[in-house]
Parts: sequence; structure tokens; C-alpha cells
Amino acid sequence: MQRHFSRRLAWATAENALARAEAAARASGRPLLDLTVSNPTQVGLSYPNEEIARAFADAAAGPYQPAPFGLSGARTAVVADYARRGVRLDVNRVVLTASSSESYALLFKLLGDPGQSVLCPEPSYPLFEYLARLENLTPRPYRLGFDGRWQVDFDSLDLADAAAIIVVSPNNPTGSFVSGNDFDGLAQLAAEHGLALIVDEVFADFPLLPAADAVTAVAGRPSPALVFSLGGLSKSCGLPHLKLGWMAATGPAPLVSDALARLELIADTYLSVGTPVQSALPGLLQAGAAIRRQIIHRVQHNRRALVQALGTHSPCTLLPAEAGWCAILRVPEIMSDEAWASTLLEQDGVLVQPGYFFDLAMGATLVLSLIVQDQVFAEGVARLLARVGAM
Ligand SMILES: Cc1ncc(COP(=O)(O)O)c(C=O)c1O
Repeated sequence: MQRHFSRRLAWATAENALARAEAAARASGRPLLDLTVSNPTQVGLSYPNEEIARAFADAAAGPYQPAPFGLSGARTAVVADYARRGVRLDVNRVVLTASSSESYALLFKLLGDPGQSVLCPEPSYPLFEYLARLENLTPRPYRLGFDGRWQVDFDSLDLADAAAIIVVSPNNPTGSFVSGNDFDGLAQLAAEHGLALIVDEVFADFPLLPAADAVTAVAGRPSPALVFSLGGLSKSCGLPHLKLGWMAATGPAPLVSDALARLELIADTYLSVGTPVQSALPGLLQAGAAIRRQIIHRVQHNRRALVQALGTHSPCTLLPAEAGWCAILRVPEIMSDEAWASTLLEQDGVLVQPGYFFDLAMGATLVLSLIVQDQVFAEGVARLLARVGAM
């Protein structure tokens, strides 16, 4: 038979049993308590819509000015946002994209040849598998080990034929910042092997309890390797629908210049970021601060409620987190995390994510989103703990 389509993805991935059960529950009209929602526009936050509209008001009228790395006013606003996080950055090292997912795509084109690997942390959000394969690269996991805190397992890094090392800091769902030691070790290895570090900091604005040696903004840390730090409106301002991300290149100056010259050609080929959102960016970053505060408040409130609901004698354990939007709950290992998730869905109408979805290899774990509406979260947790107690 004639071949029509690329082999870069296993396109026919079947829906898993849990997704089928969720779809069936939704189709039946059964109300669910969804503790998996990670879309900030769907959790009852109050958006400053007038301020957002004002930010766009002038933007729509402007002429089209194609600029591969983005309009200078928007890039300057990103520099100011890094300054808010304590990092001084040269505006010429900032590149705008349509999202952090697109930042990965551009960087994979810049750094990798077809067939090379990108080293991805495990556990982590299952995004890199697709992003890498779509660029004809092979995702290769390296482990984060947990012994009270999450750390890079350097023995699990397979650098042969690698194009880049991805670090997610804070990681989703572990909520761990990369430590100074781990960052320096990775940067040293990357420099020795001619690799770049891609550091995804989209959750960096949501600290809970960072460790003393947490690197909370990698662009401010010297590195012998080329480093790209990724951010965007999607998480830091709770505005995923406006489609604007950014990256900052740091590391040895000659390498950064080389990288940016090549990246310019890639970005110029797509010119994917809309002019209105770029023109509106200074206003959006200001308006986003109020959204961010609400998210921080929500996350802290729900985490406290979870700690309280667990009390001191629960058979479940809440893993510590330095930052982020998730809670990882260890549940009794009387069945798999997938079985726990389907039991909770079918018996209790509570939707949670099983840890295996994030390659959490530590017994039975469930991942709960902490940005869910307070009442939904509290009721969902109450049902979850009642189910654990009843087993
Ligand atoms: C760690 C991490 N990076 C990136 C993304 C994607 O962000 P964006 O909407 O900017 O593409 C996600 C989405 O949840 C994420 O969890």
C-alpha cells in the first residue's frame, strides 16, 4: 500500500481506559468533581477583562512589523519581567514565541539533527515525548530520584548522541526547583559534550517553599553551557489563550551569538507571534499580576486544606513541594494508581490523575491540581479520603 504519512509519531495511539471511562461518565451527564483541571481560565478566577481589553485597544490598529524575535517593546517588557524575578537580562537575548511549547519546537530545530535524542526528566509532564518526536528527535528519559527531595540521578543520563538536556524547574508535577548543585553539574556536562540546557521555568512564579539552594531563575546563574530559559503568559499570568511565550539565551557570549543568529533564521521562517499580543504585552504583564496573585492564593489555600484533611493519622502521604500547581499524594499500595483513579471516578465521581501518567515510579500516587475551585477541591479530597478509609 502507498505510504501517505510521516512516521515521526505513533499516530494511532489508542485512548487509555481511564480516558474512556471519563468520556463515558461525561456523556452520561454524571456530575464529576474534576481535580485534574490545569486550565486557569476554567477555575472561577476573576480576570481583569477591562484592563486586558485596554492593553489590546491600541494594539489592533498598528501596522504589521515582521520581527523574527518579536517587537522591541514586547521584548523590553519581558526584560522587565525578568527584573521582577531578580534577573538582569540583555534585551537582545530575548526571543518571543507563541507558547513555551513552540519555544521547544524552535530549539529542537536549532539544536538537533533527526535521530538525535533529547534528555527529558522523569517524572515530568508528558509533553516532551510529542514535541521531540514531531521534530524527528528521540526523547530519552533521565531520572529524578526522591529521598525527601527530588534530585537529578546523574547515573541515568545517557549523553551519547544527545542534542539537549531539558530541565523543568519547578518541575510539573513534583514541584521541585533544580538545586544549585544539580544545575551546575548538568551545565558542566552539557558544556563538555557540546549540548545546550533547555530550562522550562513556566511555573517559577508559583513558589511554595523553595529549598535554600533552589535555583529560582536560571538566567541569573553563570553557566559554562548554552542555556535557554523558557517562560510565557500561559502559566505566569494565567493567560494560555493569548499565545505568547518567551525564551532567554544565556551562557558563553560567543555561543549565545551563534545560537541567536541561527535561531533568527528559524523564527523568521514562521513569524508566528501575532502583532496585537506583542503590542499589548506590557499591559498584559501588568494585568497578569492580579491573576497570578489569585492563583498563588488558590494553590496555597487548597494545599493547606489538603494537609488539614489528611490530619496526622492518614494512610496517605502528601509529598513536599517547593512550587507549582500540583499535589502528589501517595495512597496505599493495595492497588495500582490507575486502579485508584478509576475507582474514584466510578464510585465517587472524582477525577484525579494517576502518577504513572507522569512516570512517577514510586508505588501508588495520585496527582491533584491545586488550582481547582476551593469547594470542588475540598469535596473531591473528602470523597477521596473517605474511599481510602473504606478500602
Ligand atoms: C512544564 C510545562 N511546560 C510547558 C507547558 C506548556 O505551556 P504553553 O502553554 O506555554 O505551551 C506545560 C503545560 O502544562 C507544562 O506543564
